[in-house]
Amino acid sequence: MTGTAARRWAELQSGRGVPPEILAQAPADPWAHNPDDFAAPAVAADTPSRDAALALLGEGGTLIDVGCGGGDATFAVAERVRHATGVDRQRDMLELYIADAAARGLPARTVCGSWPESAAEAGTADVVVCHHVLHNVVDLPPFLRALTAAARRGVVVEMLTRHPMVWLDPLWARFHDLRRPPPATDEDAVAVLRELGVTPEVRHWDRERRPPHDPAWVARRLCLPADREPEVAAALAEVPPRSRSAATLIWRA
Ligand SMILES: C[S@@+](CC[C@H](N)C(=O)[O-])C[C@H]1O[C@@H](n2cnc3c(N)ncnc32)[C@H](O)[C@@H]1O
Repeated sequence: MTGTAARRWAELQSGRGVPPEILAQAPADPWAHNPDDFAAPAVAADTPSRDAALALLGEGGTLIDVGCGGGDATFAVAERVRHATGVDRQRDMLELYIADAAARGLPARTVCGSWPESAAEAGTADVVVCHHVLHNVVDLPPFLRALTAAARRGVVVEMLTRHPMVWLDPLWARFHDLRRPPPATDEDAVAVLRELGVTPEVRHWDRERRPPHDPAWVARRLCLPADREPEVAAALAEVPPRSRSAATLIWRA
């Protein structure tokens, strides 16, 4: 049975969707992530998520990275990982992941598919990490349950404290006359976990500021054609900077 917190999460996330009439006119997929934006840095940032994963890995262990992208979460703790499995629904992300793993000499494999449907193929590992994926998910309980089930020791989830695209809400109003409902937060995710009988440790922190995305990127997100980019650039100048507020959720399996 779906609990109150899970229903609230699903409603808030559904409110972030793009109406079909706007999507139908989009010149490009507004949801697709560009692998170039997700290449892992050579030297990992020192974060609470990294600390938590290192603690769970102890002297060494296996790891599954759900929604791995270019492997930021994996490679941040590579020195303690004996074998890594990168799971992502975008094949081009997995190509980047496996190439970087090879370059770093880390034994790894990839599973292409959407979580939790791909969980059986991914199998189990000592530690499961999942960074910046929850805000893409509508039906959270099966997603979270599968993270726990895949982990022998524990799970580390990293997320922004509010939906990452909330900074573009003023531009949805301006360009599409679309008023967005409030975004889901890390507290909403924690409430869903509690309904599943899990009380995570939560650490709040600020990510290193990333440069704002360029007008071409934002125009695609807003389902606008390239010839609107100058207008988007002008509008972006009036939008407050993106929040850096992040949360790490840690629980034992
Ligand atoms: C914002 S990126 C984060 C990538 C990486 N974890 C990081 O922190 O840099 C989200 C990634 O999750 C993937 N993704 C989103 N939902 C997913 C799902 N349900 N199953 C598998 N992959 C998913 C996307 O394709 C994308 O590569």
